[in-house]
Amino acid sequence: MEMEQLVEEILRLKEERNAIIMAHNYQLPEVQDIADFLGDSLELARKAVNVDADVIVFAGVDFMAETAKILNPEKTVLLPAGRATCAMANMLRVEHILRAKERYPGAPVVLYVNTTAETKAYADITVTSANAVRIVSKLDSDTVIFGPDKNLASYVARETGKKVIPVPEHGHCYVHRKFTLEDVERAGKLYPNAKLMVHPECTPEVQERADIIVSTGGMIRHAPEWNEWVVFTEREMVYRLSKLYPSIKFHPAREDATCIGMKAITLKHLYESLRDMKYRVEVPGEIASKARKAIERMLELS
Ligand code: 13P
Ligand code: SF4
Repeated sequence: MEMEQLVEEILRLKEERNAIIMAHNYQLPEVQDIADFLGDSLELARKAVNVDADVIVFAGVDFMAETAKILNPEKTVLLPAGRATCAMANMLRVEHILRAKERYPGAPVVLYVNTTAETKAYADITVTSANAVRIVSKLDSDTVIFGPDKNLASYVARETGKKVIPVPEHGHCYVHRKFTLEDVERAGKLYPNAKLMVHPECTPEVQERADIIVSTGGMIRHAPEWNEWVVFTEREMVYRLSKLYPSIKFHPAREDATCIGMKAITLKHLYESLRDMKYRVEVPGEIASKARKAIERMLELS
């Protein structure tokens, strides 16, 4: 099927199913263009609370679709491609959390939303890169167990002055770990007028050279403050920003910063997902109700 026909069919099926397409900022341009709502992890979780549709088609990775399902147990949530997963979320296992709790009794467990529903069930509260600093600083404890991103953990430690125990020890995002000081130097030579916007999943060395350290939603909010940026996050963010602000220049810090899980979803997958009502996201009841408490606590505090 041609692209135009796929778009037509998706729009027709969306109406027929009373569905809404929610998409993360890293999705392919054509998927971003057809989405009803685009956002960062926090915005997507917030939006999921009051979606007025029977079906949510989630163009993102599995933990995001699970979060939508946890917040909407009565709705059908579809993840259009089975391979749409977050490599970093899969690094954290329940054993890591239990071991840390034994070593640091009483320390709250703060989990990045980039985690499986199973591990979220062990969290006192979840956070996203948009609210992690604010939430950890509000917690009534000087030590927190934090997972799975070690770089976000060290950012939170620096910003809050608290002791942040990373679980697992070396959790990271392979996309953001690609950025190095060489990329910073190259950006400085190629675009001397540009400022650097950096995601907190990048390494501390790269963060140190940033003009702003923000979530993808924060990048959108702060972009109008300057006329040229080098963007240190997944490359599709440049499409999102350039479409929103055609008069501002955005350069990807690396062309190869691509999240395979995010790119697993194409228009064809969206069409097949709506046509066949697949793949349905299910979260077992007990896990969902524990994880929901941690997510709702985050939404209350942020
Ligand atoms: P944001 O919440 O900033 O969109 O980040 C999600 C993510 O997966 C970053 O890699
Ligand atoms: Fe996960 Fe990294 Fe992809 Fe974000 S970019 S979804 S953290 S693997």
